[in-house]
Amino acid sequence: MYYIKPVISIGKVDIKSFEQFPIGKEVLIITSKTVSQNYGLPDIFDELRKKSSVHIFNHIRPDAPFEDLDLVLDELKQVSIDTIIAIGGGSTIDAAKALSIAFGDVSYKDVFYGKTPVPTTKIPLIAIPTTAGTGAELSFGAIIYDKDKGKKGGIRGEIIQPNYVFIDANLHNGCPIHLKAEVGFDCLTHAIETYISKKSNPIVRNQSVNCIQVIFQHLTKSCKENSIEDMEKVAIASSLMGINLAFSSTCLPHRIQYVIGPMTGTSHAQGLIAIYKGWLQYLYNEKIDELNQLASDLNMSTEEFLNRVNNLKKELNLDYGILKLGIDLKDIDEIASSVSGNVQADPSYENVESIINILKLAI
Ligand SMILES: [Fe+2]
Repeated sequence: MYYIKPVISIGKVDIKSFEQFPIGKEVLIITSKTVSQNYGLPDIFDELRKKSSVHIFNHIRPDAPFEDLDLVLDELKQVSIDTIIAIGGGSTIDAAKALSIAFGDVSYKDVFYGKTPVPTTKIPLIAIPTTAGTGAELSFGAIIYDKDKGKKGGIRGEIIQPNYVFIDANLHNGCPIHLKAEVGFDCLTHAIETYISKKSNPIVRNQSVNCIQVIFQHLTKSCKENSIEDMEKVAIASSLMGINLAFSSTCLPHRIQYVIGPMTGTSHAQGLIAIYKGWLQYLYNEKIDELNQLASDLNMSTEEFLNRVNNLKKELNLDYGILKLGIDLKDIDEIASSVSGNVQADPSYENVESIINILKLAI
């Protein structure tokens, strides 16, 4: 099964973008400080204020911790929000997705811990990504973080998907080069993992192949030359990988990153970049068929494909392993045993030893 929704607009975001649908009287905007002060957004916010009461929050930190979500819910307890607009990177959009189901009777924490099902209604959400990689704007999950229990995980369900998505490459291009490169690598991992996953299907694989070609061809240029044309191609590919995430799954690198990220205070993309050093090599050593098939679909030998990924890392200064993240060799067993979630979707997973081997290759 595969379908692409919702409405996706490509092009410059301005006040007219918000006139396509009724946003209502009470509008909640979730964004970041940097984003809210730039890109002409204050002018758009002023325009929105002419017709609606606008509540802006720009405090969401990486990983979207519970306490940051609670701050919004506490402050707006008495307000009936009509529309949420999320403008920012993956954590900002994920926070807004979680909030979109959190104003009703259901506790988002109970949903997170599986104590109650995901609600069937939510507040309409407009997602405007400013980084190209997470795919959060189109995926069916919101990755959030319970800092007290040290648990990072997802609220998942189709209802969580934003209702409208605006892709404006000008917003993406304001992102610092190094961040653009790192997040672009996250996009590449979504393409590779949704292809390799046991949950994959022919349309997922088709989209993955297309996305990987776009990343190989345009990511370096979008970073080094700040080219809008290249950036837009990467941004579209990245958003579409959000759909791939909905109909397939990620593999062990994402499961492992959810442990390593909070432990080392490194970003999602940095964790993946380091883990990939080991995971791709492990797939190769174990002669995983899906890896060979992917390379063949890209018209490359498996070795050529692995070299191409390594070269991309070198071009973008992303060539590092897990030691650089601050992980000690003696932590490897503990990390491996803390990995949770659907590890079986990864065809290379046999048992905890598989994860230990991946981490050792990722040093
Ligand atoms: Fe990711």
